[in-house]
Amino acid sequence: MKRTSSSLFTPNLWLIWKTIILLTLIFLLVTLFRIQFYFYDDDDSQFSSSRRSRLPVYDEDDDKVFDGNPRIAFMFLARGDLPLDFLWQSFFENADAANYSIYVHSEPGFVFDETTTRSSFFYNKQLTNSIKVGWGESTMIQAERLLLRAALENPANRRFVLLSDSCVPLYNFSYIYNYVMGSSKSFVDSFLDRKEGRYNPRMSSVIPKRKWRKGSQWIALVRSHAKVVAYDDVVLPVFKRLCKRRPPLDASKGTQNLRLQKQHNCIPDEHYVQTLLAMHDLEGELERRTVTYTSWIQSATNMETKSWHPVTYNYASSNPEQIKRIKDIDNVYYETEHRREWCHSNAILVPCFLFARKFSRDGAMRLMSQGV
Ligand SMILES: *[C@@H]1O[C@H](CO)[C@@H](O)[C@H](O)[C@H]1NC(C)=O
Ligand SMILES: *[C@@H]1O[C@H](CO)[C@@H](O)[C@H](O)[C@H]1NC(C)=O
Repeated sequence: MKRTSSSLFTPNLWLIWKTIILLTLIFLLVTLFRIQFYFYDDDDSQFSSSRRSRLPVYDEDDDKVFDGNPRIAFMFLARGDLPLDFLWQSFFENADAANYSIYVHSEPGFVFDETTTRSSFFYNKQLTNSIKVGWGESTMIQAERLLLRAALENPANRRFVLLSDSCVPLYNFSYIYNYVMGSSKSFVDSFLDRKEGRYNPRMSSVIPKRKWRKGSQWIALVRSHAKVVAYDDVVLPVFKRLCKRRPPLDASKGTQNLRLQKQHNCIPDEHYVQTLLAMHDLEGELERRTVTYTSWIQSATNMETKSWHPVTYNYASSNPEQIKRIKDIDNVYYETEHRREWCHSNAILVPCFLFARKFSRDGAMRLMSQGV
C-alpha cells in the first residue's frame, strides 16, 4: 500500500519540480533581457512608467529625526592646493566649529597639511579616495559625488555646498549659515536648455527630453537631495556614455578627428544634477538658481570659434563697487523660460549670491581688506 502510494506520487512530484525549474528559467531569461534592454537599447523608446519606477526612492526624511547641531558641509573641488585658503581661514575663524564640516576633493595623493596650506582648517580634509578629474568630463560629477558621499557619513551635515578653489564667500559665516540653513529647499540653477542641443536623443530611453536641464554646477543641497545625487546609479551611466565634451580639432589626431567631431557635444557638470533632480520630480523642492555668482564673457579661442569663459576677478576688478554690484543682485532672468527668478530663502526676498568666482589671490586679498 505504501509502495503504491509513493510510486503514484513520484511522477506528480517530478511534475511540480519541472514546473518550478521552468518558471525559474523563464524568470531568469526575462530578467536578463530586461537588463540587456535597459543598458543597451537607447534608441527612441519612451520613458515608460516601468522605467520610471527604477529610480530609487528616498522617502525617509531624516531631517525630522536628527536633533543635534545642524552643520553645513563645505565641499571644495580643487585641482591641487586651495589658493584662497587665507580668506577661508578668516571666514571659518568667525564660525562655530560645531556648525560646519569641510571636505576637499583634490588630485589623488594631495595632502593638506602645514606644507601645503596656510590654514589649519583644511588640515587632512582631503578625501582619501579622490580621482583624477578632467574639467568638463564626467569625472567632475564623479568627484562631486565622492564629496557628497563623504559628507553624508556625518548625520550632522544637513546642507551641502559645493565650491571651487577660486570661490570666495561674500558674507560672514553666520549670515551664510542662516541663509542656507533657513531654507528647506536646495539651491540649484536649473532651466530648460532649448538652444544648444546638448541633449542626445540616444539618452531618451532613460532621460526623457522634457526632463533635460541646464545650470551651474555650483549647488547647495538639502540632505535628501544630496542622497539622490550621491547614490544615483541610473542617470550617471547614461551621462558617462552619452554626455561628453567634444574635443577641439587636433591636427595630430588626423582622421580620428572626423569621428571625434561627430560626437555629441555635452558638458556633464552643467546638466547632471539639475536633470537628475527633475527626473525625480523634485523641482518643487528647489530654489531654481545658484548661490554662487559667476560672470561670463564671450571670447574667441584660437580655433576662431567664440566660447564663453568665466571672468577672473583680479586686484583691480575686486573693487568695492564691483563687489557691491554683485551683492545687490536680487533677481535672475532665465531667457529660455521667460522666467524672472526673484531670489528667496525661506520665502524671504534675499540677495541672490553668497559666494562668487573666479577670484585670483590678489582679488581675494583685496576683498578681505574690505572686511567681507
Ligand atoms: C554678518 O553679516 C551680516 C550681514 O552683512 C551683519 O548684519 C552681521 O552683523 C554680521 N555678523 C557678524 C557676527 O559679524
Ligand atoms: C551655530 O548654530 C547654532 C544652532 O543652529 C546657531 O544658533 C548659531 O547662531 C550658529 N553660529 C553661527 C556663528 O552661525
